[in-house]
Amino acid sequence: MLWKDFGLGPRLAILAELIESQARLIDVATDHANLPAALLRSGKLSYAIASDVAEKPLRAARQLHQGLLDEGKLLLRQGDGLAVLEQEPVNTLSVAGVGDLTMVRILKQLPKYPQLQAAVLQPNSAPDLVRRALRRVDFEIDRELLTVEGQRCFISLRAVYRKGISQRAFSREEEVLGSFAHQGVQAQRFRAWIEAQLQHHQKQPPAIRDQERVRILGTALDRYRSLS
Ligand SMILES: C[S@@+](CC[C@H](N)C(=O)[O-])C[C@H]1O[C@@H](n2cnc3c(N)ncnc32)[C@H](O)[C@@H]1O
Repeated sequence: MLWKDFGLGPRLAILAELIESQARLIDVATDHANLPAALLRSGKLSYAIASDVAEKPLRAARQLHQGLLDEGKLLLRQGDGLAVLEQEPVNTLSVAGVGDLTMVRILKQLPKYPQLQAAVLQPNSAPDLVRRALRRVDFEIDRELLTVEGQRCFISLRAVYRKGISQRAFSREEEVLGSFAHQGVQAQRFRAWIEAQLQHHQKQPPAIRDQERVRILGTALDRYRSLS
């Protein structure tokens, strides 16, 4: 699918790819609802809810996507995280472009909404917190991809509900680096991603810097350097 024809740049296009065909989506923190609108216009989805805590972006979304609203394919909701959901037949959550702690708070709400069986996420700067939050609510990551937009490298992941996965022991390395083998172009991006993460986290004031995360990223970067 050429997602740019539907108005998506590479960062959102990768999320569009990770969302299953004909999933029933709720896109939380949607801003102008560009991701669900593109999925609906392309025919990959036929039903989506777009929600945001703020009124202004939803007003803009209404203007931009009035046709989809009139057809009943797109629903707009204002509210915090998943609290906007009632009994709608959604099965997939997407969240991107929010701080990691906000994303973690949204993921903690998942057990209250058992209809949601899959999540497609783009963590910001600490995917380890997101991976841990997913595991705690029994969601297992089955796909991770890296994409570049502008000067930034973004990590995107898909997770599915798997009862009991929270019982499995995960190492801190798995949380920080993910458990997928990165090969080819993904390996080059992964190295660039580690470098950027390391710079970001090393700049944090010592009081809030997660030293273990920094150590794991540093070791991984050394490993990549020794390979090249
Ligand atoms: C930078 S935009 C991201 C838009 C889009 N998801 C993307 O990745 O391009 C962040 C949006 O998250 C919304 N937001 C922040 N916290 C939220 C929450 N707890 N629940 C719902 N929306 C939230 C903001 O109002 C804002 O419109």
